[in-house]
Amino acid sequence: MDVLLLGASGRIGHRVANELLDRGHDVTGVSRSGEVEGVEDASFVAVAGDATDPDDVAQLAAGHDAVASTLGPGEDTSPDVLVNMMEAVIEGLRRASVDRLVWTGGAGGLSVGPDTRLVETDDFPDEWEPLARAAIDAYDVLADDDDLEWTYLAPAALIEPGERTGEYRTAAGELVADEDGESYISMEDFAVALADELEEANAVHTYLGTGY
Ligand SMILES: NC(=O)c1ccc[n+]([C@@H]2O[C@H](COP(=O)([O-])OP(=O)(O)OC[C@H]3O[C@@H](n4cnc5c(N)ncnc54)[C@H](OP(=O)(O)O)[C@@H]3O)[C@@H](O)[C@H]2O)c1
Repeated sequence: MDVLLLGASGRIGHRVANELLDRGHDVTGVSRSGEVEGVEDASFVAVAGDATDPDDVAQLAAGHDAVASTLGPGEDTSPDVLVNMMEAVIEGLRRASVDRLVWTGGAGGLSVGPDTRLVETDDFPDEWEPLARAAIDAYDVLADDDDLEWTYLAPAALIEPGERTGEYRTAAGELVADEDGESYISMEDFAVALADELEEANAVHTYLGTGY
């Protein structure tokens, strides 16, 4: 598969790039600078582009089989940029006639009980709330789109660099937690889940939680 990966230089992004390359896919990796560290493969090309600009996204996406996003606002931009990114990516894919999008989203909108989302729970850290709310707003934009074959793939509540075990669980619309209530996934196994979803398309039009 020929994959355009938006946010390839990020913490999750470069792991997704390596997972896709290990499986034999071709990857074009986008960041604003055009620099991607930690990915070296003959089937990888790093390019510069602005994911808030639909023209850029359309040009970059043209000719690819699918687009994956591991975009994030970073520390220098308001979390609300996630909504601008989502709108630009949807419009760019439409112009480029690319139908498949797997978007790395947030866990905050996942259900943790009757009528309760993770972001609404008392233990949810205040400092993460603006990002979680912006990620939910971006999801709402995506959920309104009937044309794309989209999947909104959310990490567990906690995601960190760790081991690639190849094991993970998913749940549609729900936070994935273990029997002790811990919700965790390594970035490496999240990359496995993203690559699996790109290859298998088991959760089209779904807000999918991941974890152990
Ligand atoms: N538990 C959770 O729900 C949870 C936890 C962690 C992360 N996440 C989500 O997962 C996503 C990725 O997280 P991360 O930690 O890997 O993020 P990150 O390390 O900050 O990476 C963000 C990526 O987006 C790129 N980027 C930013 N603005 C861009 C623009 N305008 N055009 C093109 N590329 C742009 C960055 O590259 P440049 O800066 O070089 O342009 C970088 O490659 C985020 O959306 C984050 O909210 C969710």
